[in-house]
Amino acid sequence: MTSTPAGRLSTGVPGLDGMMGGGLLPGDSTLVAGSPGTGKTTLGLHYLAAGVQAGQPGVFVTFEYLPQQIYRDAEKKGWDLKQWEAEDKARLVCTTPKILLADSAKKGTVLDQVVGDIGAQRLFIDSMSHFEFTGMPSGDLRERISGLMNHLRLLKVTTVMTHEIAQIVGPAVTISNYGIEFLVDNIVVLRYVELEGELRKALNVLKFRGGGHDKKYRVLELTDEGMVVKSDFAGVENISLGSARRTVKERAQRLV
Ligand SMILES: Nc1ncnc2c1ncn2[C@@H]1O[C@H](COP(=O)(O)OP(=O)(O)OP(=O)(O)O)[C@@H](O)[C@H]1O
Ligand SMILES: [Mg+2]
Repeated sequence: MTSTPAGRLSTGVPGLDGMMGGGLLPGDSTLVAGSPGTGKTTLGLHYLAAGVQAGQPGVFVTFEYLPQQIYRDAEKKGWDLKQWEAEDKARLVCTTPKILLADSAKKGTVLDQVVGDIGAQRLFIDSMSHFEFTGMPSGDLRERISGLMNHLRLLKVTTVMTHEIAQIVGPAVTISNYGIEFLVDNIVVLRYVELEGELRKALNVLKFRGGGHDKKYRVLELTDEGMVVKSDFAGVENISLGSARRTVKERAQRLV
């Protein structure tokens, strides 16, 4: 296992840490935006597992799953979330976006309590897309989410949050309708790319306020052990369009 540089928090996925200068900066917020089934929740579990290993307790906030589903999915990858909870290394909170938003305006919230309870340094929210279902106008929602971000900064937690990208493939990628992209420090995009008739997964660090970062699309794989970020798509172009193709040079080289 690679070691995390001082002053950085590992995401639990070495290939991703490497793309971000060794890991996340303490207190930062990171949006993991991805198409369905690209590994958003898996990445959050890696993030909490890395925290358990580093002695940094974490809180998992979900709006969409029942606890049993999360325990089961974590267990499949070898993470005993129930045991972490028993040892005060993690907490699982199943709540609603409305409760979290209403809470963020005041002190002594559910989040304050659970973070204080275990001295959490890491927070994972799955997923921010659910805020769009509250029916709030996008301007109001942006203001409320901005308030929530400030609240998280005061709590001194480092947050990873997911957001759904509805598009499976294609050039147009919309993350949110209320501009969360501008409120977070970092954005990691997980998406599908069609290459020679095969749907592949790709990861890109779109924005990273912590400094220089790897701007390449990298091959993303989900395995029994979880998420693996591999090499770049060498000799392939148009990945952002969703339908990638080998470069002219690469095609010529393949002919000889
Ligand atoms: N052992 C495995 N080998 C290959 N793929 C796997 C394996 N385990 C899980 N997957 C894939 O991981 C994906 C589910 O991961 P995860 O739940 O983290 O994705 P997600 O982006 O959170 O999904 P959703 O959009 O439903 O929230 C599925 O596409 C599944 O096929
Ligand atoms: Mg998920």
